[in-house]
Amino acid sequence: MKKLWWHDAVVYQIYPRSFADSNNDGEGDFAGITSRLEHVSKLGADAVWFSPFYKSPNQDGGYDVSDPREVDARFGNLSDFKKMKLRADQLGLKVVVDLVPNHFSDQHVWFQAALQANPGSKQRSRFHFYDGRGENGELPPNNWQSIFGGSSWTRVMEPDGKLGQWYLHLFDSTQPDLNWNNPEVNEDFEKTIKFWLDLGISGFRIDVAHGLAKDEIYQDHPDPAGLTAAMRLDITDFDPQYRKALLTNIPFFDNEGVHQIYRGWRKLLDSYPGDQFFVAEAWVYPSNRAARYVRSDELHQIFNFDFLTVAWDADSIKVAIDRTLDELGAVQAPPTWVLCNHDCPRVVTRLGGGSYGLAKARALALLTHALPGNVYIYQGEELGLEDAPVAAEHRQDPIYYRTNGTQLGRDGVRVPIPWEGDEPPFGFSEQNSWLPLPANWQDLSVAKQQTDPSSVLRMYQEMLKIRKSHPGLGGTHQVNWVAAPQGVVRFTREPDFELIANTTSAEVVVQTAKSLLLSSQPDVTIVAEKLVLPANSTVWLTN
Ligand code: GLC
Repeated sequence: MKKLWWHDAVVYQIYPRSFADSNNDGEGDFAGITSRLEHVSKLGADAVWFSPFYKSPNQDGGYDVSDPREVDARFGNLSDFKKMKLRADQLGLKVVVDLVPNHFSDQHVWFQAALQANPGSKQRSRFHFYDGRGENGELPPNNWQSIFGGSSWTRVMEPDGKLGQWYLHLFDSTQPDLNWNNPEVNEDFEKTIKFWLDLGISGFRIDVAHGLAKDEIYQDHPDPAGLTAAMRLDITDFDPQYRKALLTNIPFFDNEGVHQIYRGWRKLLDSYPGDQFFVAEAWVYPSNRAARYVRSDELHQIFNFDFLTVAWDADSIKVAIDRTLDELGAVQAPPTWVLCNHDCPRVVTRLGGGSYGLAKARALALLTHALPGNVYIYQGEELGLEDAPVAAEHRQDPIYYRTNGTQLGRDGVRVPIPWEGDEPPFGFSEQNSWLPLPANWQDLSVAKQQTDPSSVLRMYQEMLKIRKSHPGLGGTHQVNWVAAPQGVVRFTREPDFELIANTTSAEVVVQTAKSLLLSSQPDVTIVAEKLVLPANSTVWLTN
């Protein structure tokens, strides 16, 4: 198989609102991104994936799109996008954009037209409008819950001023789900795909890719609250057997109908010259369902979220790696590895925070970047940021509001990144930032870390440089496990690469004739073929 760039790429995720602000309105924008894009090429990434920057009322951080073929004014305009693209071309960075096909914003012209139209109309058939149950239709069509909390149905006022039908929204009530049984919906998305391809982009990340096809609507779920809880990553004391049972049978996710859509999109993409790709955001259970999305006539990659939740423990890590390589190997799709994104806690925070969390995150980063396939880096991960504390009055995530604050939501991971200087907003903007940057982030800024050889940033830069140049790294060829003491992950990759990771909280001594290529901690030594690996550390070795 000829190697293509998306077989083993490093993709850097930019959350546009929080990257760099050029006009001091407190929100990131394309001019800001263009001025700071060199950071990404200097890091050594191959591509940049942009979370949505399309026209949007911004009820869900831009994932509520009201025009997928227009740039939202908060980020500039299409010409600013083109300038950014030009800069990316100069820097040798490919551009990947988000596609949000499960829902539109309620401000999209289609939904506004649907509200003005009558039940049964063509306008309503683009969404999931249903009559309610109960004597006067006062009960929602089913008991499904929104993933963001509360009901997944909202009742509308009909044009005659009376309460009428209900529409489905798996997320916020401002995000009506699209009805993919209506061919107009696909026609519109194909138009959007072409629009961005014609602007020279190299790939699409498909939001909620497992959600487009819905099961029978008039059917209650036996435990809707349990299902919502089972899907949450922050609930860890859930009965594993019950969780599994709930997650393997979700009426609105992972239905067969989605595959037909992706086969069509693949044909469209293949009709273009070049080597563009699709990556699916699809949380599917059991994990072997993932391979179905990346069969040879469907999508190219699927996010493998195992590392977003994997325990810092050698056995769990090995199982996650083997499972991924086996399942995706069966359909010859390249694996992907993700430590963090805009929806999950930052990796340092997840691993306990503070200096221990940081040591583990550094060690896990080295481990992840030695694996075959693609790696996704979420902005700020290369700085070792933790989730920032966000005061109640600054919170914006609909999850926070829909759960009455019982779930804090995702604002902490979306705080802008620190660039330089001694005071917030640390060069993100002149004075403003939509979420405040913590005052104690001054040593974490890009400028500070660039001057410190022991910083996380310098480790990431070195790591990506070696990953690109070492023949045993990158690629899609397998890892070869080597027997190791309890709590230690050890593998080789041909030619001439070896990794050893110590996940325990005690120092470990390992025999090796090799020499050090890179380590996650400064205090690693090899003396007389004895490698002393401190607690929570990883090394890369070579002959
Ligand atoms: C995806 C996005 C998330 C968004 C949700 C609804 O999971 O990553 O940020 O809230 O879809 O669009």
